[in-house]
Amino acid sequence: MEGAQRQLVASFLAMESPTSILRLVREIGNGSVSTMVQDFFNEFCLKNSVVVKFPPSRGYMSNVLKLLILAAESDQQEVLDEFYDQHVAFLHSSENSGQSALEGFHHFTQRCHKSYLYSFSDDAIVKLANYLGEHQASKFKDLVLTIQVSSNMLEGSTGCYAWPAGIFLSEFILANPAIFSGRLCLEVGAGAGLSTICLGLLNASKVIATDGNRSTLANLKHNVAINATLLEEPTSVELHELLWESASEKAVKGFGAEIIVGADLIYDVSCIPYLVRLLAMLLSRGMKHESSCQGKNSSAYGHEYISHTDVVPPIAYIATVIRNVETMDIFVSSACQAGLLVEDVTDTMRPPIFLPQITGIDRTRRHAKLGDSSSGSGWRLEPVPDKQASPPQMPSVDFEPEGDCR
Ligand SMILES: C[S@@+](CC[C@H](N)C(=O)[O-])C[C@H]1O[C@@H](n2cnc3c(N)ncnc32)[C@H](O)[C@@H]1O
Repeated sequence: MEGAQRQLVASFLAMESPTSILRLVREIGNGSVSTMVQDFFNEFCLKNSVVVKFPPSRGYMSNVLKLLILAAESDQQEVLDEFYDQHVAFLHSSENSGQSALEGFHHFTQRCHKSYLYSFSDDAIVKLANYLGEHQASKFKDLVLTIQVSSNMLEGSTGCYAWPAGIFLSEFILANPAIFSGRLCLEVGAGAGLSTICLGLLNASKVIATDGNRSTLANLKHNVAINATLLEEPTSVELHELLWESASEKAVKGFGAEIIVGADLIYDVSCIPYLVRLLAMLLSRGMKHESSCQGKNSSAYGHEYISHTDVVPPIAYIATVIRNVETMDIFVSSACQAGLLVEDVTDTMRPPIFLPQITGIDRTRRHAKLGDSSSGSGWRLEPVPDKQASPPQMPSVDFEPEGDCR
Protein backbone atom coordinates (compact mmCIF):
# COMPACT_ATOMS: atom_id res chain seq x y z
CA MET A 1 0.00 0.00 0.00
CA GLU A 2 1.43 3.38 -0.99
CA GLY A 3 0.75 7.11 -0.92
CA ALA A 4 -2.44 8.52 0.54
CA GLN A 5 -3.89 5.08 1.32
CA ARG A 6 -0.90 4.14 3.47
CA GLN A 7 -0.97 7.60 5.04
CA LEU A 8 -4.66 7.16 5.92
CA VAL A 9 -4.12 3.81 7.60
CA ALA A 10 -1.02 5.11 9.44
CA SER A 11 -2.87 8.23 10.61
CA PHE A 12 -5.83 6.25 11.92
CA LEU A 13 -3.58 3.80 13.78
CA ALA A 14 -1.80 6.73 15.44
CA MET A 15 -5.07 8.47 16.33
CA GLU A 16 -4.28 11.56 14.30
CA SER A 17 -7.02 14.21 14.27
CA PRO A 18 -10.39 13.29 12.72
CA THR A 19 -10.04 16.26 10.36
CA SER A 20 -6.75 14.92 8.99
CA ILE A 21 -8.47 11.53 8.51
CA LEU A 22 -11.27 13.23 6.57
CA ARG A 23 -8.75 15.14 4.45
CA LEU A 24 -7.01 11.89 3.46
CA VAL A 25 -10.33 10.12 2.83
CA ARG A 26 -11.33 12.93 0.47
CA GLU A 27 -7.93 12.81 -1.24
CA ILE A 28 -8.36 9.09 -1.93
CA GLY A 29 -11.99 9.57 -2.97
CA ASN A 30 -11.07 12.31 -5.50
CA GLY A 31 -12.66 15.00 -3.39
CA SER A 32 -15.63 13.15 -1.91
CA VAL A 33 -16.35 10.52 0.72
CA SER A 34 -17.34 8.06 -1.96
CA THR A 35 -18.60 4.55 -1.25
CA MET A 36 -15.32 3.25 -2.70
CA VAL A 37 -13.24 5.12 -0.10
CA GLN A 38 -15.70 4.18 2.67
CA ASP A 39 -15.16 0.52 1.74
CA PHE A 40 -11.41 1.08 1.89
CA PHE A 41 -11.67 2.74 5.29
CA ASN A 42 -13.89 -0.04 6.61
CA GLU A 43 -11.60 -2.79 5.37
CA PHE A 44 -8.15 -1.33 6.10
CA CYS A 45 -8.79 0.95 9.08
CA LEU A 46 -11.79 -0.29 11.10
CA LYS A 47 -11.09 -3.98 10.43
CA ASN A 48 -7.31 -3.60 10.48
CA SER A 49 -5.90 -6.47 12.56
CA VAL A 50 -3.83 -4.03 14.65
CA VAL A 51 -6.96 -1.94 15.41
CA VAL A 52 -8.93 -5.05 16.33
CA LYS A 53 -6.22 -6.23 18.73
CA PHE A 54 -5.08 -2.84 20.03
CA PRO A 55 -7.96 -0.40 19.49
CA PRO A 56 -7.71 3.38 19.54
CA SER A 57 -10.12 4.98 21.98
CA ARG A 58 -13.79 4.41 21.29
CA GLY A 59 -14.43 8.13 21.59
CA TYR A 60 -11.87 8.71 18.83
CA MET A 61 -13.40 6.07 16.56
CA SER A 62 -16.87 7.47 17.18
CA ASN A 63 -15.69 11.02 16.34
CA VAL A 64 -13.97 9.91 13.14
CA LEU A 65 -17.04 7.97 12.00
CA LYS A 66 -19.34 10.87 12.84
CA LEU A 67 -17.22 13.22 10.72
CA LEU A 68 -17.09 10.76 7.81
CA ILE A 69 -20.86 10.14 7.95
CA LEU A 70 -21.65 13.88 7.96
CA ALA A 71 -19.17 14.50 5.14
CA ALA A 72 -20.54 11.61 3.04
CA GLU A 73 -24.10 12.86 3.57
CA SER A 74 -23.12 16.38 2.56
CA ASP A 75 -21.36 14.93 -0.51
CA GLN A 76 -24.68 13.15 -1.27
CA GLN A 77 -23.02 9.77 -1.07
CA GLU A 78 -24.62 6.64 0.27
CA VAL A 79 -23.22 5.81 3.72
CA LEU A 80 -22.13 2.27 4.59
CA ASP A 81 -24.44 0.61 7.13
CA GLU A 82 -21.35 -0.42 9.08
CA PHE A 83 -20.46 3.23 9.62
CA TYR A 84 -23.83 3.99 11.26
CA ASP A 85 -23.77 0.79 13.32
CA GLN A 86 -20.22 1.22 14.51
CA HIS A 87 -20.66 4.92 15.27
CA VAL A 88 -23.60 4.15 17.55
CA ALA A 89 -21.81 1.20 19.14
CA PHE A 90 -18.68 3.24 19.91
CA LEU A 91 -20.74 6.14 21.15
CA HIS A 92 -22.63 4.04 23.67
CA SER A 93 -19.96 1.66 24.80
CA SER A 94 -18.05 2.55 27.88
CA GLU A 95 -14.54 3.80 27.14
CA ASN A 96 -13.30 1.68 29.96
CA SER A 97 -14.98 -1.63 29.16
CA GLY A 98 -11.90 -3.05 27.48
CA GLN A 99 -9.64 -1.99 30.33
CA SER A 100 -6.95 -4.45 31.21
CA ALA A 101 -6.15 -5.14 34.82
CA LEU A 102 -2.98 -3.13 35.02
CA GLU A 103 -1.20 -2.96 38.29
CA GLY A 104 -0.20 0.48 39.38
CA PHE A 105 -3.10 2.45 37.95
CA HIS A 106 -4.74 3.81 41.05
CA HIS A 107 -7.20 6.20 39.50
CA PHE A 108 -9.90 5.81 36.95
CA THR A 109 -8.30 6.41 33.59
CA GLN A 110 -9.24 5.71 30.04
CA ARG A 111 -6.65 3.84 28.13
CA CYS A 112 -6.30 3.23 24.44
CA HIS A 113 -3.66 2.30 21.93
CA LYS A 114 -1.64 4.29 19.48
CA SER A 115 0.13 2.32 16.79
CA TYR A 116 2.95 3.68 14.67
CA LEU A 117 3.44 2.41 11.13
CA TYR A 118 7.02 3.35 10.19
CA SER A 119 7.93 4.05 6.57
CA PHE A 120 11.60 3.38 5.84
CA SER A 121 13.41 4.24 2.63
CA ASP A 122 15.39 1.49 0.89
CA ASP A 123 18.58 3.24 2.08
CA ALA A 124 17.44 3.11 5.68
CA ILE A 125 16.66 -0.61 5.39
CA VAL A 126 20.13 -1.25 3.91
CA LYS A 127 21.65 0.65 6.80
CA LEU A 128 19.67 -1.42 9.30
CA ALA A 129 20.67 -4.63 7.49
CA ASN A 130 24.35 -3.66 7.87
CA TYR A 131 23.95 -3.90 11.62
CA LEU A 132 21.17 -6.40 12.10
CA GLY A 133 21.50 -8.68 9.10
CA GLU A 134 19.06 -9.06 6.21
CA HIS A 135 16.61 -11.25 8.10
CA GLN A 136 16.08 -8.91 11.02
CA ALA A 137 16.09 -5.81 8.83
CA SER A 138 13.23 -7.25 6.77
CA LYS A 139 10.85 -6.81 9.71
CA PHE A 140 11.27 -3.03 9.43
CA LYS A 141 9.54 -2.91 6.04
CA ASP A 142 6.06 -2.51 7.50
CA LEU A 143 7.01 -2.08 11.12
CA VAL A 144 4.12 -1.26 13.45
CA LEU A 145 4.82 -0.49 17.12
CA THR A 146 1.91 -0.16 19.51
CA ILE A 147 1.82 1.57 22.85
CA GLN A 148 -0.97 1.81 25.37
CA VAL A 149 -1.50 5.39 26.47
CA SER A 150 -3.81 7.23 28.81
CA SER A 151 -6.42 9.72 27.72
CA ASN A 152 -5.13 11.90 30.54
CA MET A 153 -1.77 13.38 29.55
CA LEU A 154 -0.89 13.99 33.20
CA GLU A 155 -1.38 10.33 34.15
CA GLY A 156 1.71 8.72 35.64
CA SER A 157 3.44 12.06 36.06
CA THR A 158 3.00 12.62 32.26
CA GLY A 159 4.58 9.24 31.46
CA CYS A 160 1.54 7.45 30.03
CA TYR A 161 1.15 9.65 27.00
CA ALA A 162 2.78 9.73 23.55
CA TRP A 163 4.82 12.94 23.53
CA PRO A 164 6.09 14.32 20.20
CA ALA A 165 9.72 14.41 21.37
CA GLY A 166 9.50 10.69 22.20
CA ILE A 167 8.11 9.93 18.75
CA PHE A 168 10.94 11.99 17.26
CA LEU A 169 13.49 10.12 19.39
CA SER A 170 12.14 6.81 18.09
CA GLU A 171 12.95 8.00 14.55
CA PHE A 172 16.41 9.14 15.64
CA ILE A 173 17.14 5.74 17.20
CA LEU A 174 15.97 3.74 14.19
CA ALA A 175 18.00 6.00 11.89
CA ASN A 176 21.18 5.33 13.84
CA PRO A 177 21.83 1.62 14.37
CA ALA A 178 25.55 2.51 14.36
CA ILE A 179 25.12 4.28 17.67
CA PHE A 180 22.90 1.81 19.48
CA SER A 181 23.37 -1.72 18.23
CA GLY A 182 25.49 -3.92 20.45
CA ARG A 183 25.61 -1.35 23.21
CA LEU A 184 24.13 -1.12 26.66
CA CYS A 185 21.47 1.58 26.29
CA LEU A 186 19.58 3.31 29.07
CA GLU A 187 16.54 5.53 28.74
CA VAL A 188 15.84 8.20 31.35
CA GLY A 189 12.14 9.07 31.91
CA ALA A 190 11.09 6.37 29.45
CA GLY A 191 7.36 7.08 29.76
CA ALA A 192 5.17 4.88 27.55
CA GLY A 193 8.28 3.26 26.09
CA LEU A 194 8.25 3.84 22.31
CA SER A 195 11.98 4.68 22.26
CA THR A 196 12.81 1.84 24.64
CA ILE A 197 11.12 -0.59 22.25
CA CYS A 198 13.10 0.89 19.33
CA LEU A 199 16.36 0.36 21.23
CA GLY A 200 15.32 -3.26 21.72
CA LEU A 201 14.74 -3.60 17.98
CA LEU A 202 18.32 -2.54 17.23
CA ASN A 203 19.96 -5.38 19.12
CA ALA A 204 21.27 -3.23 21.91
CA SER A 205 23.26 -5.56 24.17
CA LYS A 206 20.80 -4.62 26.91
CA VAL A 207 18.11 -1.97 27.27
CA ILE A 208 17.45 -0.41 30.65
CA ALA A 209 14.29 1.66 30.76
CA THR A 210 13.95 3.90 33.79
CA ASP A 211 11.23 6.15 35.11
CA GLY A 212 10.37 7.64 38.47
CA ASN A 213 6.64 6.94 38.38
CA ARG A 214 5.17 3.53 39.23
CA SER A 215 2.01 3.86 37.13
CA THR A 216 4.20 4.76 34.20
CA LEU A 217 6.46 1.78 34.84
CA ALA A 218 3.42 -0.54 34.98
CA ASN A 219 2.20 0.81 31.65
CA LEU A 220 5.72 0.59 30.20
CA LYS A 221 5.94 -3.06 31.24
CA HIS A 222 2.68 -3.71 29.42
CA ASN A 223 3.95 -1.92 26.32
CA VAL A 224 7.19 -3.87 26.20
CA ALA A 225 5.14 -7.07 26.55
CA ILE A 226 2.77 -6.29 23.68
CA ASN A 227 5.74 -5.66 21.36
CA ALA A 228 7.73 -8.62 22.67
CA THR A 229 7.46 -10.69 19.49
CA LEU A 230 9.51 -8.03 17.70
CA LEU A 231 12.24 -7.95 20.33
CA GLU A 232 14.37 -10.88 19.36
CA GLU A 233 17.03 -12.49 21.48
CA PRO A 234 19.60 -11.61 22.68
CA THR A 235 18.27 -8.17 23.60
CA SER A 236 16.82 -7.97 27.06
CA VAL A 237 14.78 -5.06 28.35
CA GLU A 238 14.96 -4.28 32.06
CA LEU A 239 12.73 -1.77 33.80
CA HIS A 240 13.95 0.19 36.81
CA GLU A 241 12.33 2.73 39.06
CA LEU A 242 14.76 5.67 39.06
CA LEU A 243 13.82 8.94 40.68
CA TRP A 244 16.26 11.67 39.65
CA GLU A 245 16.10 13.33 43.06
CA SER A 246 17.21 10.28 45.01
CA ALA A 247 19.30 8.33 42.50
CA SER A 248 22.42 7.02 44.21
CA GLU A 249 25.75 7.25 42.44
CA LYS A 250 26.49 3.61 43.16
CA ALA A 251 23.22 2.38 41.66
CA VAL A 252 23.50 4.66 38.64
CA LYS A 253 27.08 3.69 37.84
CA GLY A 254 26.12 0.07 38.42
CA PHE A 255 23.93 0.20 35.31
CA GLY A 256 27.09 0.53 33.22
CA ALA A 257 25.19 2.42 30.52
CA GLU A 258 27.11 3.20 27.34
CA ILE A 259 24.45 5.17 25.48
CA ILE A 260 21.82 7.19 27.32
CA VAL A 261 18.68 8.58 25.72
CA GLY A 262 15.77 10.67 26.92
CA ALA A 263 12.87 12.60 25.43
CA ASP A 264 10.85 15.50 26.71
CA LEU A 265 12.51 15.70 30.11
CA ILE A 266 13.34 19.41 30.21
CA TYR A 267 10.22 21.29 31.22
CA ASP A 268 10.26 21.72 34.98
CA VAL A 269 13.02 24.06 36.14
CA SER A 270 12.95 22.62 39.64
CA CYS A 271 13.86 19.16 38.28
CA ILE A 272 16.72 20.27 36.05
CA PRO A 273 19.50 20.15 38.68
CA TYR A 274 18.52 16.59 39.57
CA LEU A 275 18.29 15.54 35.94
CA VAL A 276 21.71 17.04 35.22
CA ARG A 277 23.19 15.38 38.28
CA LEU A 278 21.84 12.03 37.08
CA LEU A 279 23.17 12.56 33.54
CA ALA A 280 26.58 13.57 34.89
CA MET A 281 26.71 10.37 36.95
CA LEU A 282 25.67 8.27 33.96
CA LEU A 283 28.26 9.98 31.79
CA SER A 284 31.06 9.69 34.27
CA ARG A 285 34.24 8.67 32.42
CA GLY A 286 34.96 6.07 35.07
CA MET A 287 32.49 3.67 33.50
CA LYS A 288 33.66 3.98 29.93
CA HIS A 289 33.19 0.72 28.07
CA GLU A 290 34.71 -0.82 25.03
CA SER A 291 31.87 -2.14 22.96
CA SER A 292 32.00 -5.67 21.67
CA CYS A 293 29.84 -4.95 18.64
CA GLN A 294 31.55 -5.21 15.28
CA GLY A 295 29.01 -3.27 13.22
CA LYS A 296 30.12 -2.31 9.73
CA ASN A 297 30.25 1.26 8.55
CA SER A 298 26.89 1.93 7.08
CA SER A 299 25.90 3.41 3.80
CA ALA A 300 24.57 6.76 4.85
CA TYR A 301 21.45 8.73 4.26
CA GLY A 302 21.58 12.48 3.69
CA HIS A 303 24.98 13.79 4.68
CA GLU A 304 25.39 11.84 7.90
CA TYR A 305 28.18 9.27 7.94
CA ILE A 306 28.22 7.89 11.44
CA SER A 307 30.00 4.65 12.10
CA HIS A 308 30.03 2.60 15.25
CA THR A 309 33.54 3.75 16.13
CA ASP A 310 32.68 7.44 15.66
CA VAL A 311 30.56 7.31 18.77
CA VAL A 312 32.63 6.86 21.89
CA PRO A 313 30.55 5.94 24.93
CA PRO A 314 29.36 7.11 27.34
CA ILE A 315 27.24 9.59 25.48
CA ALA A 316 23.68 10.87 25.87
CA TYR A 317 21.15 11.94 23.27
CA ILE A 318 18.27 14.05 24.51
CA ALA A 319 15.31 14.92 22.30
CA THR A 320 13.35 17.86 23.47
CA VAL A 321 10.60 20.28 22.75
CA ILE A 322 11.60 23.82 23.57
CA ARG A 323 8.52 25.18 25.26
CA ASN A 324 10.48 27.83 27.04
CA VAL A 325 13.89 29.02 25.87
CA GLU A 326 14.94 30.06 29.38
CA THR A 327 14.30 26.58 30.74
CA MET A 328 16.45 25.13 27.97
CA ASP A 329 19.22 27.63 28.74
CA ILE A 330 19.12 26.68 32.40
CA PHE A 331 19.50 23.02 31.42
CA VAL A 332 22.45 23.76 29.12
CA SER A 333 24.30 25.97 31.59
CA SER A 334 23.67 23.54 34.41
CA ALA A 335 25.05 20.66 32.29
CA CYS A 336 28.13 22.77 31.50
CA GLN A 337 28.70 23.44 35.18
CA ALA A 338 28.56 19.69 35.76
CA GLY A 339 31.46 19.22 33.33
CA LEU A 340 29.47 18.05 30.32
CA LEU A 341 29.95 19.03 26.73
CA VAL A 342 26.58 19.97 25.31
CA GLU A 343 26.07 20.08 21.58
CA ASP A 344 22.95 21.03 19.67
CA VAL A 345 22.66 18.31 17.04
CA THR A 346 19.24 19.32 15.75
CA ASP A 347 20.59 20.07 12.29
CA THR A 348 23.65 17.87 12.08
CA MET A 349 21.92 14.65 13.13
CA ARG A 350 18.39 15.26 11.93
CA PRO A 351 16.86 11.84 11.23
CA PRO A 352 14.82 11.07 8.14
CA ILE A 353 11.08 11.25 8.66
CA PHE A 354 9.91 7.69 9.22
CA LEU A 355 6.51 8.74 10.59
CA PRO A 356 5.16 11.28 8.09
CA GLN A 357 1.65 10.73 9.43
CA ILE A 358 2.49 12.40 12.75
CA THR A 359 1.49 16.02 12.40
CA GLY A 360 2.38 17.07 15.96
CA ILE A 361 6.13 17.39 15.29
CA ASP A 362 7.26 20.54 13.54
CA ARG A 363 10.57 19.51 11.99
CA THR A 364 11.15 22.72 10.11
CA ARG A 365 12.43 24.93 12.91
CA ARG A 366 15.46 24.55 15.07
CA HIS A 367 14.35 26.62 17.99
CA ALA A 368 10.83 27.10 19.09
CA LYS A 369 9.63 30.50 19.98
CA LEU A 370 8.50 30.98 23.51
CA GLY A 371 5.32 29.04 24.14
CA ASP A 372 5.53 26.94 21.01
CA SER A 373 5.38 23.34 22.09
CA SER A 374 5.66 21.56 18.80
CA SER A 375 9.23 21.88 17.53
CA GLY A 376 11.60 18.96 17.88
CA SER A 377 15.23 19.45 18.78
CA GLY A 378 18.09 17.13 19.69
CA TRP A 379 21.00 17.50 22.08
CA ARG A 380 24.08 15.41 22.60
CA LEU A 381 25.81 15.34 25.94
CA GLU A 382 29.18 13.86 26.69
CA PRO A 383 31.99 14.41 29.13
CA VAL A 384 34.30 17.27 28.13
CA PRO A 385 37.43 15.65 26.64
CA ASP A 386 40.13 15.07 29.24
CA LYS A 387 37.87 16.21 31.98
CA GLN A 388 36.10 13.85 34.31
CA ALA A 389 32.40 14.63 34.42
CA SER A 390 31.79 15.13 38.07
CA PRO A 391 28.38 14.85 39.60
CA PRO A 392 27.60 18.24 41.05
CA GLN A 393 26.77 18.63 44.70
CA MET A 394 23.19 17.91 45.65
CA PRO A 395 21.75 20.79 43.69
CA SER A 396 20.06 23.90 44.77
CA VAL A 397 17.13 24.67 42.51
CA ASP A 398 17.55 28.37 42.91
CA PHE A 399 20.32 29.38 40.50
CA GLU A 400 20.96 31.80 37.72
CA PRO A 401 21.72 30.43 34.27
CA GLU A 402 25.27 31.21 33.17
CA GLY A 403 26.96 31.57 29.80
CA ASP A 404 26.18 29.21 26.96
CA CYS A 405 28.73 26.48 26.34
CA ARG A 406 27.16 25.00 23.20
C1 LIG B 1 6.87 14.31 29.39
S1 LIG B 1 7.16 12.68 29.91
C2 LIG B 1 8.12 12.02 28.56
C3 LIG B 1 7.99 10.53 28.46
C4 LIG B 1 8.71 9.91 27.27
N1 LIG B 1 10.14 10.12 27.36
C5 LIG B 1 8.15 10.46 25.98
O1 LIG B 1 8.83 11.28 25.35
O2 LIG B 1 7.03 10.11 25.61
C6 LIG B 1 8.38 12.85 31.20
C7 LIG B 1 8.79 11.53 31.84
O3 LIG B 1 9.82 11.77 32.77
C8 LIG B 1 9.50 11.16 34.01
N2 LIG B 1 10.00 12.03 35.09
C9 LIG B 1 9.73 13.35 35.26
N3 LIG B 1 10.35 13.81 36.36
C10 LIG B 1 11.02 12.76 36.89
C11 LIG B 1 11.85 12.60 38.04
N4 LIG B 1 12.08 13.62 38.85
N5 LIG B 1 12.38 11.38 38.27
C12 LIG B 1 12.15 10.34 37.44
N6 LIG B 1 11.37 10.43 36.34
C13 LIG B 1 10.80 11.62 36.08
C14 LIG B 1 7.99 11.08 34.05
O4 LIG B 1 7.53 10.05 34.90
C15 LIG B 1 7.66 10.85 32.59
O5 LIG B 1 7.63 9.50 32.28
